[in-house]
Amino acid sequence: LDERTLVLIKPDAVRRGLVGEILGRFERKGLTIDAMALRGMDAELADQHYAEHVDKAFYPPLKDFMTGGPLVALVLSGDQVIEVVRGLVGATDGRRAVAGTIRGDLSLSNRENLVHASDSVDSAKREIALWFPELG
Ligand code: CMP
Repeated sequence: LDERTLVLIKPDAVRRGLVGEILGRFERKGLTIDAMALRGMDAELADQHYAEHVDKAFYPPLKDFMTGGPLVALVLSGDQVIEVVRGLVGATDGRRAVAGTIRGDLSLSNRENLVHASDSVDSAKREIALWFPELG
């Protein structure tokens, strides 16, 4: 069953020169890039994208981080892509993420964890509409 998911290659990955490394993992897995752009997340987009986190204690520093530099936004498609991408990305906390995953191999942080990926069909729909309204 083909699905779509929204992925953000976060500002820490762009700063560290890891965009190619991360994109390569998605491509080698066999996923399709439906849309991709180097973008900035402004305060308003951050509040919309992270609507479920705006009241959490970790949100202010997360917002500073996510709005602090360019990121790469992309839409990936493929068979069960939402679950597949979350497996490739690994657990939120880079210190706990299993080796072999993007975060497990490349991040040592719970905040600067390199990648965001939609966590459900509903959040993928909402996030794709937010970042790439032209995809419908
Ligand atoms: P992401 O998948 O983009 O979704 C929410 C983000 O908040 C998460 O990745 C991390 O970057 C950040 N985050 C989640 N939990 C924490 C936490 N406990 N402390 C700091 N940052 C967090």
